[in-house]
Amino acid sequence: MPITQEYLDLKKWYEETADERCEEMGAFFDRRIATYEEHMSFWQEHYGRVAELLPSGVGTLLDLGCGTGLELDRIFRRFPNISVHAVDLSEEMTKELLKKHGGRDLKIILDDYFLHDFGECRYDAAVSVETLHHFTAEKKTGLFAKINRALKPGGIYIECDYIASTPEIEELAFSECQRRRKRDGVPDGQYIHFDTPLTLEHELSAMLAGGFGSAEMVENLKGTPIIIAKKGN
Ligand SMILES: C[S@@+](CC[C@H](N)C(=O)[O-])C[C@H]1O[C@@H](n2cnc3c(N)ncnc32)[C@H](O)[C@@H]1O
Repeated sequence: MPITQEYLDLKKWYEETADERCEEMGAFFDRRIATYEEHMSFWQEHYGRVAELLPSGVGTLLDLGCGTGLELDRIFRRFPNISVHAVDLSEEMTKELLKKHGGRDLKIILDDYFLHDFGECRYDAAVSVETLHHFTAEKKTGLFAKINRALKPGGIYIECDYIASTPEIEELAFSECQRRRKRDGVPDGQYIHFDTPLTLEHELSAMLAGGFGSAEMVENLKGTPIIIAKKGN
């Protein structure tokens, strides 16, 4: 099924912001904390669906790039006693999450999810919402391998993130990102907040390359896919 994401006209956005300087990832979110949740209102329905798609018996959950906890608001509503490990780089974002859900069984991990060791067979499910559209397929494949390993047998990973509607847009995104990094002298390996989504096909193939047994789009809400990947061997 062809999908056309409605969130942002990326080509136009790259043109309109062509002169903006690169911002480091954590600092970008720290600075926008006051308006963050309002800015994310486009995804309200998506947060609800991610919570609904979790299997009814889920007891332990890993949330990658949890931010202020917009998906967790809905997940805790459905599973008040769930045990959550929530990872994020931005201290300001996780402070907001703790204000809302400090009384829950919630452990915040203030770290880079590409570097953190999530262990083996620990979680019934993992989720990530609107956080992975900044990274290459290669980096994501390594992360997917860690998520796959961290899931218990039968575990699932749910990803909701916007995608590039064509390979040309994906290519444009990465070349524009490189242009800006070079222009601003951003050191290799430093994360910047710049959107470089992959196409759906590329995202799914990175999941399979990371070792998931299967990966498929289960919903397409306003052009944004929700993908469920099942633990592989
Ligand atoms: C757009 S927000 C999404 C937050 C939340 N999932 C939501 O939908 O509201 C992206 C989040 O991912 C976090 N993030 C980006 N790269 C990360 C990394 N490498 N490790 C951990 N967190 C990261 C950012 O700090 C930010 O809080």
